[in-house]
Amino acid sequence: MSRSVNRREAFERLAGFLLASPLLLGAEKPELADSTKLANVFDFRELAKSLLDPVAFDYMDEGGKDEISLKENRLAFNRIILRPRFLTDVHQIDLTTELLGKKLDYPLFVCPAGGKNCFFRNGEEETARGAAAAGAMFVTNGGIDDYLASGNGPGHWWRYTTGGQFRTENTMLDFVEGLEDTDCTGICFTVDNMLVSHRERSIHNGLVRGWCNLDRIPRDSAGNLIYSAGDRTWTTGEYPSRPFPTPTWDTVKRLRDATELKIMLKGIMIGEDVEKAVGAGADAVVVSNHGARQLDHTGSTIEALPECVQAAAGKMPVLIDGGFRRGTDILKALALGAAAVGVARPYLWGLTCFGREGVARVLQLLKTELALDMGMSGVAKVADIDRTLARIRNWGYTGGRL
Ligand SMILES: Cc1cc2nc3c(=O)[nH]c(=O)nc-3n(C[C@H](O)[C@H](O)[C@H](O)COP(=O)(O)O)c2cc1C
Repeated sequence: MSRSVNRREAFERLAGFLLASPLLLGAEKPELADSTKLANVFDFRELAKSLLDPVAFDYMDEGGKDEISLKENRLAFNRIILRPRFLTDVHQIDLTTELLGKKLDYPLFVCPAGGKNCFFRNGEEETARGAAAAGAMFVTNGGIDDYLASGNGPGHWWRYTTGGQFRTENTMLDFVEGLEDTDCTGICFTVDNMLVSHRERSIHNGLVRGWCNLDRIPRDSAGNLIYSAGDRTWTTGEYPSRPFPTPTWDTVKRLRDATELKIMLKGIMIGEDVEKAVGAGADAVVVSNHGARQLDHTGSTIEALPECVQAAAGKMPVLIDGGFRRGTDILKALALGAAAVGVARPYLWGLTCFGREGVARVLQLLKTELALDMGMSGVAKVADIDRTLARIRNWGYTGGRL
């Protein structure tokens, strides 16, 4: 029997144990202490898939339309190879770095994600508590002001918006003034979902997006989905329109004038937009295709990174997210000039399986993988990672674990 079969069997035994556990049947979640055989974030994904209602899992997992960019977000990492340097002292690895004048314990952050409640009860706060325990920078979707004000929240957090609050001067001022009274670092303004894409797994599943705010997908005792009056399923064939003008670069300039808080634009994919972000007074950009959930055929984010870093020309940090699952993925992005790397689905898998402990565990796994991969590449500090550590090859996609 091959070694991989043995590992798989071992994992299946663990998953079977967790699923049969009385902890899970009557209660919230299995115990993380039982999870030492979850060796990487993909193992968390498998366990999360086995625990979640398939409609909720598809909502988390899916991408836009044909999911081409979803696959490419992962596959593109195979086109970048690492150039390890040896005989350097790597007995201690230092992951600390700085972002916009604030120290980060490690260059990894927790991306915003809507609908966390259908993965775990009180999901936003559970995630924030996990991020705080893991010492990670956190971007919140909101709704947990009391916890964030308690002093026990993540030390470095941002408030996410798609700009709904920026429609009038008054609503913009209300929004920023509310944040200025807190220890919020800044505003993470997502720019890539002014219109919402077709996510066809959820359309086929008959998902009502409001369910993602509930604790679980509503089903009757026979397992059928329960629809209530007024529920709208996600659909295709409706001509896109929004009731109000969507934000523009002028909105970013107005926001800049309205607040001293940092402004980070998330969802940038081209160098020209990085230049506009600099011109509009933003402090940072996140190269992101929304986890490939919005426009399909954008290519991967890691492919977009070099042109965005070049366009930033050192005037602002360039962060990135999309498909990061391994320490080597993070290392490659840092080598190509990213200031920090964000994840969403990996911590959502941890959240689904174990609540806050799962979020923290997933972040810790990625952090330790990064440290090990740095050490094995001959770099002992984040500051020593540079472009010479990576080579981009043009051999096309070569397969690998999605
Ligand atoms: C279930 C889910 C919900 C998301 N909701 C939001 C959101 O509300 N706002 C946003 O800017 N990005 C959202 N994203 C995108 C993430 O912030 C992030 O850009 C992306 O998922 C990172 O890629 P990864 O999931 O492969 O790590 C969501 C992603 C997922 C998986």
